[in-house]
Amino acid sequence: MAVWVITGASRGIGLELVKQLVARGDVVVGAARNPETCSALKELESSSSGKLHLVKMDVEDPETIKSAAAEIEKLCPKGIDVLVNNAGISGPFAQSSQETVKSVIEVHKVNVVGPLMVTQAMLPLLRKGSRKMIANVSSGAGSLAGKVKFVEDAETRKNLPYATQAMAYKMSKAALNMQTLSLAADLKDEGITVISFCPGWVATDMGSQGTNLMKSGATPTYTSQQSVELQLKLLDGLTLDKSGGYFQHTGETIPW
Ligand SMILES: NC(=O)c1ccc[n+]([C@@H]2O[C@H](COP(=O)([O-])OP(=O)(O)OC[C@H]3O[C@@H](n4cnc5c(N)ncnc54)[C@H](OP(=O)(O)O)[C@@H]3O)[C@@H](O)[C@H]2O)c1
Repeated sequence: MAVWVITGASRGIGLELVKQLVARGDVVVGAARNPETCSALKELESSSSGKLHLVKMDVEDPETIKSAAAEIEKLCPKGIDVLVNNAGISGPFAQSSQETVKSVIEVHKVNVVGPLMVTQAMLPLLRKGSRKMIANVSSGAGSLAGKVKFVEDAETRKNLPYATQAMAYKMSKAALNMQTLSLAADLKDEGITVISFCPGWVATDMGSQGTNLMKSGATPTYTSQQSVELQLKLLDGLTLDKSGGYFQHTGETIPW
């Protein structure tokens, strides 16, 4: 039985992670901006026999991260095992040349600075835990190698609006990946595993917006339930030698 902290637990992938982890008997701290108004989380909490704890955390707000960390320390005095930095936003899907500085900053605050602040606040608790793992929910969108085709291939540029849009989001996930690598190097000697992974294309609020970015009319590949089943298989199997990795939910390595 492990102790998990999941950010962005109110809906989508975060909520499904909470559901599946509680169902299998792990202890979960679900961190959300407004847990008190999230009926799905409240219902899970009341039926969890004390396995699910809810804390208030806005990953843009250092004060809520600090108070959440203090609360988690009281709830989990023996530390935590796994932190999943899941909270994220996509930003508007503007053409890259017209992306506003405001949206670039906002997306980076949530997707890059947020996970760093949460990780730093949780490190003392991770050091006390047994599993010692930080999993950053990235995206294949952050792969630089995978995006070279967008520049080289005229057909891709024409048929995949995403090739020329969502720059702030793609930049933020590439930056998150570098955060993963830097922390993995720094924390490896302490036995802390740090990885990035992509959950696949998932039918959540965010994932469903992606349909507009596909001229083919394609829809998300996975339900949250299917994606999280694969994510947990991946995370359960990771060991320290895989630290600094960038993985698909199915376990393959993604090229940086
Ligand atoms: N869905 C996909 O196809 C897909 C693909 C690749 C990667 N991802 C990544 O997977 C993660 C989860 O995405 P999702 O599809 O589940 O998205 P989602 O359904 O839009 O849910 C996003 C979650 O992030 C939370 N959040 C946003 N800003 C926050 C903040 N400032 N502080 C705390 N929580 C905040 C939201 O909370 P509120 O309810 O309070 O807004 C919500 O719980 C993201 O990092 C995303 O980039 C998703």
